[in-house]
Amino acid sequence: MAFKKIIIVGAGPSGLLLGLLLSKQGVEVDLLDADTKVSDQPRAAHYASPAAYELDRAGVLDDVKARGFQFKTMAWRKPDTTFVAGITTEHLPADYPHRMVVLPLDLLGELLVEHIERQPTARVKWSHRVLKVGQETDHAWVDVETPTGQQRMEADYVIGCDGASSTVRRELFGPEYPGETLNAQIIATNVYYDFTKYYDSDSSFIIHPDNLYMAARISNDGLYRVTYKEIPNLSREEYIARQPKRYEEILPGNPKPGDYRITNISPYKLQQRCADSFRVGRIVLAADAAHLCNPFGGLGLTGGIADVGCLHDALMGLHTGKANESILDTYAEIRKKIWTEIIDPLSRENFARLHQDAETARENDPFFRLCVQAETDADLSREIALGYDKLRHDMTQYYTEI
Ligand SMILES: Cc1cc2nc3c(=O)[nH]c(=O)nc-3n(C[C@H](O)[C@H](O)[C@H](O)COP(=O)(O)OP(=O)(O)OC[C@H]3O[C@@H](n4cnc5c(N)ncnc54)[C@H](O)[C@@H]3O)c2cc1C
Ligand SMILES: *[C@@H]1O[C@H](CO)[C@@H](O)[C@H](O)[C@H]1NC(C)=O
Ligand SMILES: *[C@@H]1O[C@H](CO)[C@@H](O)[C@H](O)[C@H]1NC(C)=O
Repeated sequence: MAFKKIIIVGAGPSGLLLGLLLSKQGVEVDLLDADTKVSDQPRAAHYASPAAYELDRAGVLDDVKARGFQFKTMAWRKPDTTFVAGITTEHLPADYPHRMVVLPLDLLGELLVEHIERQPTARVKWSHRVLKVGQETDHAWVDVETPTGQQRMEADYVIGCDGASSTVRRELFGPEYPGETLNAQIIATNVYYDFTKYYDSDSSFIIHPDNLYMAARISNDGLYRVTYKEIPNLSREEYIARQPKRYEEILPGNPKPGDYRITNISPYKLQQRCADSFRVGRIVLAADAAHLCNPFGGLGLTGGIADVGCLHDALMGLHTGKANESILDTYAEIRKKIWTEIIDPLSRENFARLHQDAETARENDPFFRLCVQAETDADLSREIALGYDKLRHDMTQYYTEI
């Protein structure tokens, strides 16, 4: 049955993209965000093929490519920067549209806001903090704190895209987010430093049990994301104070503070968590509100955007009468299964892989052995480059009439 309105809680990348996809189909959407603007924390920047596919469907991929760039090469290296193994997109067909794209999260958010503001049926409401969520048989509701006071808003469905500390999830299942915090600490920095003197891959992962790090170019003007491992259990201030010493110890060229310019620094804990369910009646969860993984391999938001694509198709099936409510259970089951069977184990493996002995990794690590084989096998190389496609799932197969 056609909707009157959908409320999306959270105008992060997942909420904005879902709102854009739905409003482009003429659905009335209210996006509510507690903040006053798009968040500028240094987080995701890499969106693999299933995410590029959804960005394309939403009509923003060309702008993402224009403001960011298309990813070409990823390499694992020894601490002295010697190549161990790598992945390349060079064997994908030249016109393959959904290569991994790179654009820092805040710039992606601003781009999505520009696009959604052109949609007559979508409204982004900043400074709208959702406090409570509930439902009756024929609608769901949220209680919202706004600059002009508290109000109740109603819709056919409420979608929780409100991130790791989701209020919507807490309202459904309580404060506990099932899973674990890994006993490991990482520091994410954005920095201008000329890595091209040492290696030319777009992203490099340095293998070392204590000094592992990722250096990934995230802009066309030479900004890099450097994410490195730290000892656990220090304060934010202590981590920031140790940063110059850590850079000098682990980065190529052993740079001193005058040799680089940091624009952002943020310590992060590594989380592997998943909500009990992604649906309770008219209330549905997606992306970080539903699941978390560590950032190695860039599976977090790419998985979240794949949720959004599935949820869009499920909701449009309902809206157009091609599916009944059971499609939302199918959404919840399939997305949870993909997290449990693929995203959780793969992201753990990606992090663990960086801890081994770099000297023997090319011969010993099963994944690196596959990459080595792909050096002389273009079909295998292409298959590896498209590996992320398994995060995508076509929900239109559950439509009952066309
Ligand atoms: C260091 C780091 C690097 C990463 N790198 C990658 C990467 O390269 N690729 C990748 O795919 N993923 C990566 N990730 C993960 C990625 O950043 C997250 O998965 C992504 O930001 C989640 O988007 P989201 O829209 O679900 O939530 P968020 O971005 O957290 O947005 C949630 C929004 O909800 C709002 N909100 C919260 N509570 C309320 C409330 N009660 N009422 C109203 N609004 C509310 C917030 O203000 C916010 O705007 C990385 C993460 C980290 C920490
Ligand atoms: C850090 O703190 C956690 C929780 O208090 C503890 O389990 C862990 O062993 C500590 N790690 C180190 C290296 O001290
Ligand atoms: C809902 O749709 C599914 C197919 O997706 C079908 O199996 C089921 O019988 C339908 N339920 C009702 C009540 O029509």
